[in-house]
Amino acid sequence: MTIATPTLVELKRRARAAAQHAYAPYSGFAVGAAVLAANGAIHAGANVENASFGLTICAERNAVFQAVAQGVRSIEAVVLYTPTPSAATPCGACRQVLHEFGPEALIVCCTDDAAAERRYSLAELLPDAFGPDATNGRR
Ligand code: THU
Repeated sequence: MTIATPTLVELKRRARAAAQHAYAPYSGFAVGAAVLAANGAIHAGANVENASFGLTICAERNAVFQAVAQGVRSIEAVVLYTPTPSAATPCGACRQVLHEFGPEALIVCCTDDAAAERRYSLAELLPDAFGPDATNGRR
């Protein structure tokens, strides 16, 4: 999957901006994500923590769910922004959720340091994934 440079720049801007709205009083780790839908729209999300820690939702899943709630069913790319020296990759739960809507998505992991950027296909991050096909069309 290749994404036009201006689109990628905008995705990074949106992911970084979303991190500013993270609710992360427990970890202090503000994450932002931006999803590029197949229709060209961008949907962003941040991590939202909870006093019951296990209820926390990651930025990537928040962004995907925002997109899906707006009618999106196909995701082409996701940019993940973390305020870290090296780029972080999506957690396992987020990889699984991304697979549902973007099995061939490009995953771009970025920080404030352009040199730290890393790119993956979702298939690299989640090989041999369990997905909609495995349910024999029951969805
Ligand atoms: N977090 C994300 O938002 N995305 C990830 O891929 C990994 C972790 C959040 C969850 C939690 O609020 C904080 O980062 C620390 O784990």
